[in-house]
Amino acid sequence: MEFNLGYKTDMGRIPGSDDMNSDSIITRLVVRSDVNDIFLWRNDEGSRSQSLNTEPVAWVDHQGWIQSVMISSRHCLLMCCDKTSAASVGVVRFDMGNDDTLISINLAPSFRGRGLGKHCLNAAIHFFSCHYQSVKPVRAEIRPENLASQKAFQGAGFKFLHSTNDIITLTRQMIS
Ligand SMILES: CC(C)(COP(=O)(O)OP(=O)(O)OC[C@H]1O[C@@H](n2cnc3c(N)ncnc32)[C@H](O)[C@@H]1OP(=O)(O)O)[C@@H](O)C(=O)NCCC(=O)NCCS
Repeated sequence: MEFNLGYKTDMGRIPGSDDMNSDSIITRLVVRSDVNDIFLWRNDEGSRSQSLNTEPVAWVDHQGWIQSVMISSRHCLLMCCDKTSAASVGVVRFDMGNDDTLISINLAPSFRGRGLGKHCLNAAIHFFSCHYQSVKPVRAEIRPENLASQKAFQGAGFKFLHSTNDIITLTRQMIS
């Protein structure tokens, strides 16, 4: 199994991508050919350090997990892509519960640090609300030290709900 991210340039940057904003992002359902990218991003050190489970995920476990998520009606797994180049920028997951929907995001390492998180979140939430007609609030659980994530979610309209020592919970209403 080959784990190369074939589309990247030397620095993992795509020319012009620093100008990206919400309008530059398109969102689609994850497909089988995304599985490798998502695996690499999940096991990236930056992602693992912000994950509740910091251990690397094994390929076989990842395959099984993603297969189950892709066919589940309680989950929605979206890929955010650069509209111009079609490069995969990051993945957003919605786990639908009885009272609300848990959202999480993981950007490709090469697209982190450019303020794209909030744009991906906005684009993904728009897709989710259109295709799943969900009116339940969306909730994000973030480690207190993950300031970039907190700002990304706040930039996408999330507000503080509550916190513990380990988790800060933000929420966003789907209807006003
Ligand atoms: C978290 C994540 C989505 C943030 O994406 P991003 O938009 O690329 O984040 P950025 O580094 O551009 O930072 C977003 C904002 O936080 C600010 N920020 C980043 N690090 C900061 C810090 N240490 N202190 C204060 N502000 C910080 C940035 O200046 C930026 O502010 P702006 O929107 O006003 O310009 C992305 O880094 C990621 O996918 N990380 C790995 C997985 C992860 O942590 N997922 C979230 C789990 S809850």
